[in-house]
Amino acid sequence: MKINNKKLIFLASFEDASILRKFTILFLITSIIPMVLLYYFYTQTASNKHLGIPTINFTYAMILMVLGVFIGFISIRSLLVKVIDISKQNSKALENLLSPETVKELNQGENEIVVLSRSFSAVTQRLEENVRSLQLAQKTLHAVMSKVGHGISNMENIDTFLELILETLTSALNGKVATIMLLNDKKTELIINNVYGANYDRKKKIHLKLTDIPAISKILSEKDPVTVSSVFLQNSQNPALSELFGETMLCAPLVFGDSASGIMSICKETGPSSDFSEEDLGLVFNLASQTAVAIDNSKLNRDIEKTYFETISALALAVDAKDQYSRGHLDRVADHALMIGRRLGLDDDDLDTLRDAARLHDLGKIGIPDEILKKDSGLSDEEWVIMRRHPEIGESIIKPVRSLQHLCDCIRHHHEKLDGSGYPDRLKGDEISPLVRILSVADVYDALTTERPYRPRKSKADAITILRSMKNHLDQDIVNIFLEGLEEKENLT
Ligand SMILES: [Fe+2]
Ligand SMILES: [Fe+2]
Repeated sequence: MKINNKKLIFLASFEDASILRKFTILFLITSIIPMVLLYYFYTQTASNKHLGIPTINFTYAMILMVLGVFIGFISIRSLLVKVIDISKQNSKALENLLSPETVKELNQGENEIVVLSRSFSAVTQRLEENVRSLQLAQKTLHAVMSKVGHGISNMENIDTFLELILETLTSALNGKVATIMLLNDKKTELIINNVYGANYDRKKKIHLKLTDIPAISKILSEKDPVTVSSVFLQNSQNPALSELFGETMLCAPLVFGDSASGIMSICKETGPSSDFSEEDLGLVFNLASQTAVAIDNSKLNRDIEKTYFETISALALAVDAKDQYSRGHLDRVADHALMIGRRLGLDDDDLDTLRDAARLHDLGKIGIPDEILKKDSGLSDEEWVIMRRHPEIGESIIKPVRSLQHLCDCIRHHHEKLDGSGYPDRLKGDEISPLVRILSVADVYDALTTERPYRPRKSKADAITILRSMKNHLDQDIVNIFLEGLEEKENLT
């Protein structure tokens, strides 16, 4: 029993021994066998003088055999040492490439050669995974860049572009909802500006106080993308937020220059594949940085366009002020047009268009010579030809500014008439848009009730009669709404 135990202990320790020790033991055992056989053969034949081998020859044979075995042992051993060194270096490299735990797992109870082959297999597997992941990331990036490029060339405004970015991001990462939140001017709140994947009324923007969302505030100050739990929902009273954010959300700061102007976030459906990878974090961070640049450029453009609008408004007022008879015409037309628009129930965008178009509708008079503009007597046919160019001149000043292009229709067509006798395009009936019809009524009424060098101002009653008689020129439904408004206003005062 004791012997068996000893045998087992010996076998176990032999099994655990390094490959170098195993080789030494096995080599010695296998080398001794031919020597023992040679000695046996020598002793068996030594007594026979015919078959006997001379002692000197046997000694030489033994020396040669020992020498051969020794050289063989040294050569194979040095080869093995090299293989073991490679294996050790490989282990160190693997610890960097894989994890130390994985390498430890590979080493368990195995010799260096087995570890080496397993290591190569693990490395190959990891490389294959990396290649697959890179190919996927490349495809995703390609899709994102192509959509973003297409969006930039076709975008109508920054919000269309931002929504396109969110749509692309959501499809690239298999997300559910993506949002862009922008810091307010005081940098105390995040305002949810754009949402893709959930219902969100942009007109009723949700404001989130930074003090209520410390995890998000931290991203803004540290400017690093992270995956956070949407715990801030628990602090919020707004039920709409739970639709916009999942359990976990990947947030990346919109960094431009030294500061962050907001957050881009994406959430996945709740479930086993709701986690985000390092590649996802990198993709969202890069996209957020590009988006921050686009937002900043858009703000810059908005400022420039605002300055341009203010400049040309000042020019239009200057032209208005030049004519002592029509001074204040632009503001009065704007007031009349807005009154009609409100009574018709137009939305805020249309009312803004009406107001701005009214203030700029005669801007083109800047291109009309003063002698025509200030002429005391009636204009000649040639002078009327020149005067009738002012709608087109006005349009040509406005047209290059993208944000003012929506005013072009009103400015170009405010002298068109329903029967097609107006200018410059002789539009008829429905070809004249509702906003232009409103502006025309307001413009004609103010012209009638203003003194001209060639005629006195009309009384209100006469002006109303004339407006009602212009059935072929003005939309009578709008005339009626305007007159109702005028009456109401008069009763109030
Ligand atoms: Fe005009
Ligand atoms: Fe006018």
